[in-house]
Amino acid sequence: EKGNHRHFMAKEIYEQPEVVGHTLTQYLDMAAGKVRLPFGDKIDWKGLSRLTIGACGTSYYAGLIAKYWFEKLARLPVEIDVASEFRYREAPLPEQGLALFVSQSGETADTLAGLRYARQNGQAILSVVNVPTSTIARESHAVAQTLAGPEIGVASTKAFVCQLAVFASLALAAARARGTLSAEDEAGHVQNLISLPGLMARALELEPQIEQLSHKLSRAKDVLYLGRGTSFPLALEGALKLKEISYIHAEGYPAGELKHGPIALIDEDMPVIVVAPHDALFEKTASNMQEVAARGGRIILVTDAKGAAECGIEPEATIVMPDMDPTFAPIVYALPIQMIAYQTAVFMGKDVDQPRNLAKSVTVE
Ligand code: M6R
Repeated sequence: EKGNHRHFMAKEIYEQPEVVGHTLTQYLDMAAGKVRLPFGDKIDWKGLSRLTIGACGTSYYAGLIAKYWFEKLARLPVEIDVASEFRYREAPLPEQGLALFVSQSGETADTLAGLRYARQNGQAILSVVNVPTSTIARESHAVAQTLAGPEIGVASTKAFVCQLAVFASLALAAARARGTLSAEDEAGHVQNLISLPGLMARALELEPQIEQLSHKLSRAKDVLYLGRGTSFPLALEGALKLKEISYIHAEGYPAGELKHGPIALIDEDMPVIVVAPHDALFEKTASNMQEVAARGGRIILVTDAKGAAECGIEPEATIVMPDMDPTFAPIVYALPIQMIAYQTAVFMGKDVDQPRNLAKSVTVE
């Protein structure tokens, strides 16, 4: 049931600190400061030649963030595609390859078909699912469960952050096995993961401010989301969330692609939401933001105190997130992104739990 919340989506947004904490307890040995995967050493991370990831929608965006983590932390080459393309591409798959499929429901038709293709082509199959009895889980060699609990709202929220928590753990386990992470660095990352639920709870406190700015956003016809690095998939996710529940057209772009086309769209009618924690790429994103500002673009900046101080412009609104280590920050930055879509859609009177034309589980292609 919805409890005190108006919608399942709101309830599920607010459950996120708890379900991420719960998921992490299954993947971390918190006392030892180490990752401990629930399926043991079923996966030979060290011997892997490549990781291939397949998924749809929001689960695909979680996989895109995972790509950054596996590559950077574990030095593992990652190939990722939406399952509806992957299943028909006839991609050659490597010896010693692992294929990872991500699905909240575990029943998405295209993701399942991609899994079967990878299996027939000799890949070991790992799935990240929220429903352990699902078809995708049953057809996998190893299953990493997200412990988000049942997700009712069509717009995925808590399943997404739990997928990210699982990926963070998997990437650290892979890094340790592949010898690219010292015990000390592992302990530091584990500590950062443990602090996420508290940071998420603080991010939820930003909702009144987000509600205010959503009123203006609801008048937009188009919204552009920008981000770099792991904030780029969050830009894609933000645009998908806004589209699916408010029906406002939105697009996510890597900030660096702006000058290759979309900057032509910038005018005072199109809000630009920039996701930019003060990380190693901040200055690059800030300069893209300044280009938008110089063309009269209206910017909503999601950053931290340092980013707000150093962005070099005056955004129309700044959502100031708590300070945190940047590596796993997307798990916290997902929350304002979801709340922006939610508040905008609610203000517009849309049915956020049951958006038009959409089903919770897409079991036909
Ligand atoms: O159950 P799955 O994770 O396989 O579902 C994939 C997509 O259909 C799903 O994430 C969809 O994009 C959501 N409605 C997004 O909020």
